[in-house]
Amino acid sequence: MRHWRLFHLVGRRSAAAVLVSGTAIGAHNYGPEDAAKTEFQTSSKFPIPQSYSGPVWKIRNDYPATAGKTDAPWQAVDFKKHPERFCEVIKRYCMEGNKEVDFNVQHNRKRNWYHAAWLHYAENGREPIHGLTFERPVSTGELGANQKRPLQAWTCGYYNELGATVFNQVWKDGSAPQWDTHVRFPNGAMVFKVLMVDAKDDEEAPILKGAPSWDAVIVKERENYDDPQTWPDRNDYASKIRLLQVDYAIADDRAPIGWIWGSFMYDGRRKDKDPWERLTPMGLQWGNDPQLDQQAYEAGERVKESWVNPAANELLGYLHSSRPMWGWNGRLNGPADNFISACASCHSTAAKATDLPLLTQDSVVHTNRGTYVPAGCKKGVTPGCDAAAMEFFRNIPAGKPYKEGQISADYSLQLMMGWINYQHWLKDSNQGWMEYAIRTVTGRPRYISTRRLARMGASPTHVDE
Ligand code: HEC
Repeated sequence: MRHWRLFHLVGRRSAAAVLVSGTAIGAHNYGPEDAAKTEFQTSSKFPIPQSYSGPVWKIRNDYPATAGKTDAPWQAVDFKKHPERFCEVIKRYCMEGNKEVDFNVQHNRKRNWYHAAWLHYAENGREPIHGLTFERPVSTGELGANQKRPLQAWTCGYYNELGATVFNQVWKDGSAPQWDTHVRFPNGAMVFKVLMVDAKDDEEAPILKGAPSWDAVIVKERENYDDPQTWPDRNDYASKIRLLQVDYAIADDRAPIGWIWGSFMYDGRRKDKDPWERLTPMGLQWGNDPQLDQQAYEAGERVKESWVNPAANELLGYLHSSRPMWGWNGRLNGPADNFISACASCHSTAAKATDLPLLTQDSVVHTNRGTYVPAGCKKGVTPGCDAAAMEFFRNIPAGKPYKEGQISADYSLQLMMGWINYQHWLKDSNQGWMEYAIRTVTGRPRYISTRRLARMGASPTHVDE
């Protein structure tokens, strides 16, 4: 995942449209807080296609301050002794009441689920039909030899009630969020996300045969998706995207880092009648194996803090994938994730930030021995040659910052990204708002910088009438 610069165009336009109508109606002076609140409640910035008439997505972010009684059935299962049983309990927990309502969680009768705030205001921002954000594309060949182009990956995450209480701490007031200290998700908090790709079923990715599919308004197809500036360029119709992966994270005191990570991959060879049941557990991860550096790995040591399901390795072989491994040197990772990283590694970087930090080791090098090594070990695997890479595989305790001086987002990259998006929005709109405020306070029409208003997307003649 690269650094993202956030897009402004779409965001500005509708913030300003609200500003204009607020002025015209004159109900009350529409100020920056109101605008922040409007954004907070915005489900998607992208229009619903005219040709689409099905249900549309609505954000649920009325985060509770406290949760009812702990609802965490996996706590009764020893995840190291019975990992497969543990995964089955999780699968049921994610699906219950959600599958029936197409993951429109507002209609789930079994338990409450919530979405992360402010994921709409970015280049990869939420599309309007399922609230999906655009993720790192699946590179050519990763899902098999027939996959001749990068596939778009789209995802939406759902937090359980205990998880949502942390969002309440920050986003209690959508117009004036507060985030002063490290957050820590309570034991029993969990979040999962559904990830779908735009593969054309049987030809491009045979493994996705029969996969559940959703409608989504995705990015216009292009040769590659390297340039984030192109991501707001969406179709004006809905496409079918197909289930590839379900990921989850569980705040659990039993894990050394306070979190357990897990992933399922769809396997079209499975015979389960219900296609949502054809998800095979990839494995679990409860630590980053900080001792397992390149030298140790090449000396034959293997992960101790991930369980990788033998079925996941069989799947990798079956795919004839261009990727050499799921996660870095045998750690857990999912089919849509970069193999130079791992679940817990990437997520340990989550912090209160104003721009996206580096989430993975820089890059790896393919050696003439056919192996992959971190860039620092290019000339030979010597002690510490991968020290920079191993920074990403420390076991950061839950609620502790990745770097000194940071405020921890406790492994939640969605909490971090929502905050980043909000900061960008503040920056985008601040200047215009200040001038607007002067005008409303003095009660006299004042010259408003048309250039600045134009930047906000408003037509100056409307505002300064
Ligand atoms: C290289 C980075 C990277 C790796 C590796 C990675 N993720 Fe994530 N993950 C992200 C980012 C960025 C987001 C937030 C963006 C989004 O959801 O659109 C995210 C979001 C999530 C969420 C939603 C809640 C949250 O914490 O933001 C879950 C759950 C999750 N990932 C689980 C996993 C699991 C399980 C794995 C391994 C199988 C994994 N991730 C591997 C980067 C990564």
